[in-house]
Amino acid sequence: MAKNTLTIIDNRTGKQYEIPVEDDTIRAIDLRQIKVSEQDFGLMAYDPAFTNTASCRSKITYIDGDKGILRYRGYPIEELAEKSTYLETAYLIVKGELPDSKHLQAWRNNITIHTMVHENIKKFMEGFRYDAHPMGILVSTVGALSTFYPEAKNIFDLETRRLETRRLIGKMPTIAAYAYRLSRGLPYVYPDNELSYTGNFLSMLFRMTESKYKPNPVLERALDVLFILHADHEQNCSTNAMRSVGSSQVDPYSATAAAVAALYGPLHGGANEQVVRMLEEIGSVKRVPEIIKQVKAGERLLMGFGHRIYKSYDPRAKIVKRVAYEVFDVTGRNPLIDIAVELERIALQDDYFVSRKLYPNVDFYSGIIYQAMGFPTRMFPVLFAIPRTSGWISHWAEMVRDPEQKIARPRQIYIGENMRHWVPIEQRSEPVMREDAVSDSI
Ligand code: ACO
Repeated sequence: MAKNTLTIIDNRTGKQYEIPVEDDTIRAIDLRQIKVSEQDFGLMAYDPAFTNTASCRSKITYIDGDKGILRYRGYPIEELAEKSTYLETAYLIVKGELPDSKHLQAWRNNITIHTMVHENIKKFMEGFRYDAHPMGILVSTVGALSTFYPEAKNIFDLETRRLETRRLIGKMPTIAAYAYRLSRGLPYVYPDNELSYTGNFLSMLFRMTESKYKPNPVLERALDVLFILHADHEQNCSTNAMRSVGSSQVDPYSATAAAVAALYGPLHGGANEQVVRMLEEIGSVKRVPEIIKQVKAGERLLMGFGHRIYKSYDPRAKIVKRVAYEVFDVTGRNPLIDIAVELERIALQDDYFVSRKLYPNVDFYSGIIYQAMGFPTRMFPVLFAIPRTSGWISHWAEMVRDPEQKIARPRQIYIGENMRHWVPIEQRSEPVMREDAVSDSI
């Protein structure tokens, strides 16, 4: 009869072990009993970049990368993108269920009353150089929030967690918009709580002398859909950073700063910025075959292509591509779309991409939309960080309540020198430059 166990024979010793299998997973710690001798440390699993290691049990987001499925709390991303709003989706992600109208209203109020930031935050942000990257500003400012709300350290208190969740979701757009206005030398625009979450964000970014900013409804909805698509994506690099840093029991602002920092990288949230730079550099559809050749020769990456989890079309990319054309009806066509479509067309026929299962990811088309809407390229990762905050904070709260979680602390395989003794400086020979040295200059 089939048993939910795994039998391992250690060929070094001939011993046999039976290890439980639960949810198609073994516990790495069960390998530790496998030893050559009593003094032996025991077997470990080596998994750089966590390609086959589950770090938690989570109820938030489900992905089937082979089938191109993404669901938040069981709801397909396609349905949420079509029918929901970002704030409603954020409620779903944070609380696990869709709200009724009374709860949605209360949630909206609870978020909007936290859109203002302390005036000293504004002053703090003014200390950055005029050309500071807005993601750099965001990392630091979110971290600085912990000094304004020291009670946030009280992470095991439910009411404190609720309050910090509302504050974080409420304040992210304000900080992001301030960072943008600062880079343009424009005066800050205070939040307008009569507008929607994304409408208010557009107002804080783009309002000039008008007494009341009226967001274009198509652009407001497009941004809302993009926010829904970016709200969570289970254990990605930044969420893993949020959980890992949060596992030290630091306050959620400091953990979110770590998550924003992870998102800043060009292989993660920085990719949409890189996609637009790449498309601008390509410049014309005629150059696409030449670029594909360079990618295949390993000379460059096709930014916005490939994903650690999706080995078929990223379901978010399909929706983003559709939204792009809706936005262009208002803003006019962004010529970069033609280069992107041609890159996708050629790549998806090419064995290099097909055999490696490389498809467009969410970042491939999102930057083109953001550019058409008037966002400078450097704001793109910031536009990712705002909605992902609801995902980060939900994972953080899930981790805080999970009795199985402890401080995250991976093991290593030590491959350095064996023990050696310190030698007086005059007795040392000239050091040989090692290949693992940080630099070959002094
Ligand atoms: N262009 C060209 N080749 C690629 C690309 C790409 N964008 N992505 C992967 N490959 C190739 C690799 O060179 C490798 O080829 P090989 O088997 O001949 O060595 C193979 O495909 C597998 O790639 P890995 O790097 O092993 O895949 P991994 O899962 O580690 O990386 C990642 C995923 C980081 C997203 C990668 O595809 C990439 O760098 N893409 C470009 C950056 C990007 O768009 N990032 C956004 C990701 S989505 C997000 O964060 C929201």
